[in-house]
Amino acid sequence: MPTTQLPNTASLRPGFIWGVSTSSFQIEGATKEDGRGLSIWDIYCRSGEIKNHDTGDVACDHYHRYREDVGLMKTLGVQAYRFSVAWPRVLPLGLGSANEAGVSFYDRLIDELVAAGIEPWLCLYHWDLPQALEERGGWLNRESAAWFADYVTLIAARFGDRVKRFATFNEPSIFSLFSRSLGKREHSSEDKFHRMIHNVNLAHGAAVDVLRANVIGASIGCIHNRQPCRPSSASEADEAAAARLDVYWNAAFPDPQCRGEYPPSMRAAIEPHMQPGDLTRICRPLDWFGLNHYSPVYVKARADSMLGYDFGDKPASVPLTPIGWPIDPEAFSETLQAVRTRYGLPIYVLENGYGDSGQPDQTGAVIDPGRIEFLKAYINAMNNAAAHGVDVRGYFVWSLLDNFEWASGYSIRFGLTYVDYASLRRIPKSSFGWYAGLIRAVQP
Ligand code: NOJ
Repeated sequence: MPTTQLPNTASLRPGFIWGVSTSSFQIEGATKEDGRGLSIWDIYCRSGEIKNHDTGDVACDHYHRYREDVGLMKTLGVQAYRFSVAWPRVLPLGLGSANEAGVSFYDRLIDELVAAGIEPWLCLYHWDLPQALEERGGWLNRESAAWFADYVTLIAARFGDRVKRFATFNEPSIFSLFSRSLGKREHSSEDKFHRMIHNVNLAHGAAVDVLRANVIGASIGCIHNRQPCRPSSASEADEAAAARLDVYWNAAFPDPQCRGEYPPSMRAAIEPHMQPGDLTRICRPLDWFGLNHYSPVYVKARADSMLGYDFGDKPASVPLTPIGWPIDPEAFSETLQAVRTRYGLPIYVLENGYGDSGQPDQTGAVIDPGRIEFLKAYINAMNNAAAHGVDVRGYFVWSLLDNFEWASGYSIRFGLTYVDYASLRRIPKSSFGWYAGLIRAVQP
């Protein structure tokens, strides 16, 4: 491959890790097999809110095809794989005794990864809460921190001999905002939104303590989606709305977790939920900052929304991916620098990627130059940030496979590998070959 097609990686440190990421609900399928309990997403998929009424029942069938998928990772040459454990697969009711068949699936997956020389990065929570716990109030119940600690105790005991890299949560701001604040949320309130934020932060702190006590050599972080919030117009109202959303999107979780304090503008709303010692419970020493980044977010004021913000129009001049997300590698560089300044931890980019709906051509190949251009530009931007002193230690593409893209179902594809959902056949896209070429070229 001509090196001009590869990004500049000269400023990345030795030992830099290249990886790919996925999550349980988005790829596993087998939702009714081997004693798995229901998750909130199984229920949500019945609500009619998901595009084409798609569900996670089969997804990529990774539950049965994990060996083939680890084979794809071997071909890619990645050093690390980030996945998540489905809490209801190992604890069908969220609490109580383990479902051994579910534990055994992750045992086999981890063994397969280790045998392939690929380091497992285990995310404890990627949004599939056991429905049984939702029925007890879910994250609105302060006891959720203790439920989470029990679950993490099981994970540490069963997998901590082979897994050392743990993320407590994936994108806590996103699942809190989307379930409680953005859009039409009739059953929400400011009180519920802030209570949920605080309880998830408490669960994070509790999980860190469990992992430190039970896994020798654990390396722990939390994965935050951080995207600059930009006003969609120069009006004062839009600027204020963008600043307000920025606090919830970018600071409500990492600030208390890494700095031991909530942003000033949300302290009064958190106060009713705060008990003595909580900030110490939340702010536990971490080894790294997990960053998911895709684009900036454009925000407008909306008087009839709960906190006065909503998604706004993107400026016409901003280039977009096929799913309408701004392409702005500079914003990635800025974000990396902002994380370094504010939190001072080593950074792993645990998600970055490009969504489209690309299909095989007449020859059966999936050619995706847009994805290659996007990844190249973003890796260049990361290299620039590293050249300016940002301690970034790894980069994981979202995603290994096309998968269930939440409310968009299977209509949006982020994979380096195309999945034909009818046959479940995997077809590596041209970006897959490109990423493999990059890894080969930069590895010592
Ligand atoms: C963030 C989420 O962690 C992941 O689940 C999602 O599929 C990607 N971004 C793309 O939207």
